[in-house]
Amino acid sequence: MKLDARYPALSDLRSRAQRRIPKFVWEYLDSGTGSEATKARNRSALDQITLLPSVLHGEFTPDLSTSLLGETLPLPFGIAPVGMSGLIWPDAERHLARAGAKAGIPYTLSTVAAAAPEDIAKDLGPHAWFQMYPPRDEAIRSDMLARAKNAGFRTLVLTVDVPVPSRRERQVRSGLTQPPKLTPRLMAQVALRPAWAAAMAQKGMPHMRMLDAYANVETANLPPNAHVGYLLRTSPDWAYVQWLRDAWEGPFIVKGVLRPDDAKKLEELGIDAIWISNHAGRQFDAAPATIEVLPSIRAATALPIVFDSGVEGGVDILRALAMGANFVMMGRAWHFALAALGTDGPAHLVDLLRKDLESNMGQLGAKDLTNLTAPADHDMFQL
Ligand SMILES: Cc1cc2nc3c(=O)[nH]c(=O)nc-3n(C[C@H](O)[C@H](O)[C@H](O)COP(=O)(O)O)c2cc1C
Repeated sequence: MKLDARYPALSDLRSRAQRRIPKFVWEYLDSGTGSEATKARNRSALDQITLLPSVLHGEFTPDLSTSLLGETLPLPFGIAPVGMSGLIWPDAERHLARAGAKAGIPYTLSTVAAAAPEDIAKDLGPHAWFQMYPPRDEAIRSDMLARAKNAGFRTLVLTVDVPVPSRRERQVRSGLTQPPKLTPRLMAQVALRPAWAAAMAQKGMPHMRMLDAYANVETANLPPNAHVGYLLRTSPDWAYVQWLRDAWEGPFIVKGVLRPDDAKKLEELGIDAIWISNHAGRQFDAAPATIEVLPSIRAATALPIVFDSGVEGGVDILRALAMGANFVMMGRAWHFALAALGTDGPAHLVDLLRKDLESNMGQLGAKDLTNLTAPADHDMFQL
């Protein structure tokens, strides 16, 4: 049966993914922090945004292309960085890099992914972004940049919304440790998920491959939800951003911004784009929904804005673009797709999102993505 008929929406992929991966992996992928108020708020705030349909535009095929950082992209969405992707589905980084290359959209590799930049160099398309968690040591920092550049990553993303680990209580409760240790409890969860277990048995247990080169550090005393990455990384400051700006020649994006004054200051430092994110509600449970802060950040900076957290389909992408974002990223969705359908999943998600965008742009009478305007009553989101 065609994938379209069985899995017409992301929610279908999400529920199938949950049935196919062990509980601790699901909890890692889908949990927020605290009582998950921010995660829920991402959804409810997006749902509050209405866009006014416009009629009598005749027949047209909407143009889904957009431009970002000097390049034209065929679609207005891409793949956000996810640490240990390869735990969620074996070889996820490679599959997602290939899916990104095939669709012509950005794929972002995390510092703490289960693949190192060089592991997937051959799989990268032209829009490969490397996401850095900031190493304290300057030599490690320079080495990471060189490795990313040599592997073919052109755009650097510095994530700044993890100044300290968050507690993610659901993950702790599920028995997940870092690195994942297959305790009898976790083995019992794995036994209930034969497809994941069979695929993982071929690949072996994943770990943070990029950090192998630097991991001569003591990991024994880490809390259960922390990992070797936390020993290497620091809480960056403005001087750190400046250092990276000077060191990286290509486009440089700062991810995890929620305040207009921070966006403005980053613009002054010479950053190329602001990535508004609350890390899908995984870091701070009193954070606003990202769509709530988007208008004030749009007003504060002329820089391109990348947007994420809670996006679940074409309507959400249009909402973000209408409110002032230039590009939209998704994190969990790609992993729901992979875990649900294996290697066919990401391409199916691209297809779903494309159809969803086309259908909804038809309702709006939007021939392209340049003139989407949100109704004026969304001033309510000005902070
Ligand atoms: C399991 C998981 C791991 C993540 N790991 C990282 C990471 O290593 N680096 C990073 O910058 N963001 C990370 N994020 C945040 C995503 O890049 C992105 O901001 C977020 O997932 C967007 O929200 P969405 O999942 O609702 O689309 C992670 C998110 C998830 C769900």
